[in-house]
Amino acid sequence: MDVPNLGAAVDPSRPNIARVYDYLLGGKDNFAADRAVADQIIAALPEVQVGVQAQRALLRRVVRYLVGEAGIDQLLDIGSGLPTADNVHQIARRAAPDTPVRVVYVDNDPVVLSHARALLADSATTFAVDGDMLRPSTITRSPTVRSHLDWSRPIGLLLCGIVHYLLDEDRPGEAIAELAGALPPGSYVFIHHLLDNGDPAMRELQEHMQKGLGRVRFRTMAEVCALFGDLPLVAPGLVEISSWRPDPGTVIPAAHQGVLSMACAGVARKA
Ligand SMILES: C[S@@+](CC[C@H](N)C(=O)[O-])C[C@H]1O[C@@H](n2cnc3c(N)ncnc32)[C@H](O)[C@@H]1O
Repeated sequence: MDVPNLGAAVDPSRPNIARVYDYLLGGKDNFAADRAVADQIIAALPEVQVGVQAQRALLRRVVRYLVGEAGIDQLLDIGSGLPTADNVHQIARRAAPDTPVRVVYVDNDPVVLSHARALLADSATTFAVDGDMLRPSTITRSPTVRSHLDWSRPIGLLLCGIVHYLLDEDRPGEAIAELAGALPPGSYVFIHHLLDNGDPAMRELQEHMQKGLGRVRFRTMAEVCALFGDLPLVAPGLVEISSWRPDPGTVIPAAHQGVLSMACAGVARKA
């Protein structure tokens, strides 16, 4: 793996969320320690890669909805992860070819930021910024984040695959309320979250993620719903990910239904 100028911030011997996810997606930006954890997760739940692909497909549908249907032209993607083939700014460009959609990627992982900055070096509309969701004001008050977006017009906040890495003691509801509170009226909040559906296979996945990554908290539908606070959800509400505005004609093989029932998603609009 080629990781330029990262100094002491990167410890290849410690598995890391973004790189484990990258490996599960078939990427090559990961180290042996990340692959070992991912391989244990795959051994416990062989369909897990279907789940991560479905997460990316959901993200595509949500971005298409926000940019193509709801008229949003600014996106704040917190926990953006390592650049993959189909990133949010690329999806947004396809959804609205004539609109210069501004995208700010925020992550607290130096590898993610290094790769994103290299990829986006020439972009005038897409930026990567260091920020920590555990301290939302580092994002909402960041002069860089503020300067890249127009805070007098609606923004789409993307929280895809990040909130389940916030434990209860991290007070994720308060963090989301602080982020949403800073957004202008007419903004949207999207959450994708791993779902505690009571299934033994889900418990096993949770145990392997906890052991390998040191933190994860699957939540029930009611717990995830509460994370939106009083923001009203747009149709179809909070649902299992494959039920969130599926592409027409989508057929889910029976063998995939188990893993796909381990994550939920919803989009809310701030009045
Ligand atoms: C599983 S990846 C999700 C990537 C992408 N959003 C997606 O859904 O395909 C989770 C990302 O959240 C980032 N992350 C985890 N905790 C974070 C925090 N407290 N603040 C900012 N980013 C965080 C990780 O570094 C990682 O890149």
